[in-house]
Amino acid sequence: MSDSPHTTSTSHKAINFAEKLGKFDSLWSPKVIAEMNDYQFKIVKLEGEFVWHQHEDTDETFIVLEGSLNIAFRDGNVTINQGEMYVVPKGVEHKPIAEKLVKAIIIEPRGVVNTGDSDKGDLTAENDVWI
Ligand code: NI
Repeated sequence: MSDSPHTTSTSHKAINFAEKLGKFDSLWSPKVIAEMNDYQFKIVKLEGEFVWHQHEDTDETFIVLEGSLNIAFRDGNVTINQGEMYVVPKGVEHKPIAEKLVKAIIIEPRGVVNTGDSDKGDLTAENDVWI
């Protein structure tokens, strides 16, 4: 038996992205909507430029629900459009850029800090916030 208050196995209720997106407006502030083993699914709204950072210990998956997300790397960049996904490998520096509002899902292990190794504390979101 899990003692997590967020266990959904018995709720028999699907998690609706639009409903979750309607519950917050804050940018660059991922909210947890589900867990699978040690991984968390986080819903997020992005607009503007984030900071260069990397995650030493984990890959990071982006799934774009709405909009078009650009991720800059030191040696190039990728554009993730609505309906597309991309996995940023661990240890690779990246900088998400959203010219217009992007709504996305991030998948990463529990405990990962959004700004990674960066010291830009003003953009560091509170961790493990469920919505
Ligand atoms: Ni990242």
